[in-house]
Amino acid sequence: MIIPENKIEEIRSTANIVDIIAERVQLRKRGKNYLGLCPFHTEKTPSFTVSEEKQIYHCFGCHAGGNVFKFLMEYEKISFVEAVQQLANQLGITLEFEEQTGIEKQSEQEILYEINTQVARYFSDNLLNSLDGEIARDYFNSRKIKTQTMRSFGLGYAIPSRDHLVNFLRDKKIDLDKALQLGLIGMSNDNRLYDKFSGRIIFPIFSPNGRVVAFAGRILDDKEGYAKYLNSPESIIYSKGRILYGLSHAKDEIRRLDKAILVEGYMDLISLFQNGIKNVVAVSGTALTEEQVQLLSRYTKNVVLLFDADTAGIKASMRSIELLLRRDIEIKIVSLPSGEDPDSFVNNFGREKFEELIKQAQNFLEFQTAYFESQGMFEDPAKAAEAIRELVKPAALISDEIKRNLLIKAIAKRFNLREKLLETELDKIISKTEKQVKSDLSLNEMKLSAYSREQIVPDDSIKRTTNPLLYNLEKELIKLLFEGDESVVELISHHITHDEFIIDVHSELAQLVYESHKDEKEIVAGSLLERIEDEKLRSYVLEITFERYSIPKRLDDKTAEEKRKILYQYALDTVKNFKLVKLDLEIADNHKKIEGAESEEERSELMKLNRDLSNEKKMITEELSKDLV
Ligand code: GTP
Ligand code: MN
Repeated sequence: MIIPENKIEEIRSTANIVDIIAERVQLRKRGKNYLGLCPFHTEKTPSFTVSEEKQIYHCFGCHAGGNVFKFLMEYEKISFVEAVQQLANQLGITLEFEEQTGIEKQSEQEILYEINTQVARYFSDNLLNSLDGEIARDYFNSRKIKTQTMRSFGLGYAIPSRDHLVNFLRDKKIDLDKALQLGLIGMSNDNRLYDKFSGRIIFPIFSPNGRVVAFAGRILDDKEGYAKYLNSPESIIYSKGRILYGLSHAKDEIRRLDKAILVEGYMDLISLFQNGIKNVVAVSGTALTEEQVQLLSRYTKNVVLLFDADTAGIKASMRSIELLLRRDIEIKIVSLPSGEDPDSFVNNFGREKFEELIKQAQNFLEFQTAYFESQGMFEDPAKAAEAIRELVKPAALISDEIKRNLLIKAIAKRFNLREKLLETELDKIISKTEKQVKSDLSLNEMKLSAYSREQIVPDDSIKRTTNPLLYNLEKELIKLLFEGDESVVELISHHITHDEFIIDVHSELAQLVYESHKDEKEIVAGSLLERIEDEKLRSYVLEITFERYSIPKRLDDKTAEEKRKILYQYALDTVKNFKLVKLDLEIADNHKKIEGAESEEERSELMKLNRDLSNEKKMITEELSKDLV
């Protein structure tokens, strides 16, 4: 499929990258940019930056970056064409593309989804309709699961046989290599294929959009030596830490109630759902991950943790609390009566009692305090101090100042302590983390400058002969060219031709901007980026455009008009300096030549040349000082 270039540009310029990213990543305005936690690597302090003006994003930590299409490709793990289509859909732009000859090749992912869908149907059919499925139907009945619920969650049964599924796959001419890859079947030592989930009841695991990405299988009778649950391995369509079980079923209700209940198990979720509590998701087996929190935070900022009362459950809650706080999520915690899990509780006591329990949820301060109390920590003064410090720690994770202060007040009140004392403690913790951030940042800057020197100026001879001052001025000029300001581009292109740039990549980039401007194409960085083929060059542009701007005055509090003026003045100064430095270097070079000149004639020739160059300097200074009216 070929999408015309102007269509791509129309879509890109209609979409605002900030909106598109904000649907997926929590962003805060910081100066003229937006800042958030990078979705592409794990980080505790935000270094993911989005520029509305330039329509690009960049992470100073992992160096991911690009325009809106690149973001969607990376975030949703889709192809360029899919990203363009998705955005077009969302914006209501119709794509009339030319079909490529022949049948479009189904993407690898599509093929895997398709296999999972067929196999999910097969499992479901086994459970609901087959004779062999009776034992599984009985099992679900004994756990009070209704047929309707089995259908809506696509529950199934893997017939206990060595190769029932293998034969089904063969029958349907499904690619067995792919089925192996999905972990539906395995290969034994004697090279025979066998069913992986044989004899288990099946829970399909859905993506947020409701596609089957994996399966979980539970043994029917809890016998020793067998894992209770077996899960599909990770694959290109299934990344365990990024999936919340039940989200595709629960997301509308979570949005509606602006609250999500987080449980541990598949059966917990299904039972609650069947009892009318539909704003539930399950972490299912793993500790809650940052990606899961991020996923959930797209739907709500209020989470109720509902974990088993056993110590493992409490430990899991503690870990989860930290992750949730970092995303500024309001946390409530429910402790279940000992011996109960949400599934058993709702089946034993009913929906009303369950809802009462949710209403009595503690905030995490109460919860943690109760936990420390139960550990006897407040009986020993040394331990009590330790416990209070532990309670203050989470406050440092909250970035919202008001919320943070409220929490400190609450702790002070609860333990009858002076707030000041707690604030000092808090400051200590915060400054410790800030130091960490600072050293991370300077590390990034180091990496950045190393990168600029080593990777983009590939020719060693250029690197050795380029004056660092000149290099930096060129870099500033390129940055200015990517500011998206027409008059700045006009100014620079008027005074400096692209081949006047000493460094090849700068010359190439200048040419691109000049030509785009001449052809009346968009010169917003997000568009220009689309026109750079070379991956390295693209990342270079991203690195330098987000580098802290060298403009001396801070621009953030200025009006748009003032900003343009300051930018223009800065461009003017930079052009002037660039020209003058180049001339100075030439003059200095000539001086050297004069010293070593062979004849008087050559010497006077060179001296005349230098006089001309000095005159040129004067003219440039005059011309470029006059320019600003
Ligand atoms: P039921 O016993 O059917 O009610 O399941 P449960 O969810 O109550 O089980 P449990 O509390 O033991 O475990 C909670 C969750 O942890 C389960 O829903 C699974 O997602 C996961 N889990 C438990 N045991 C295993 C296991 O042996 N392997 C894997 N991969 N996950 C498990
Ligand atoms: Mn259970």
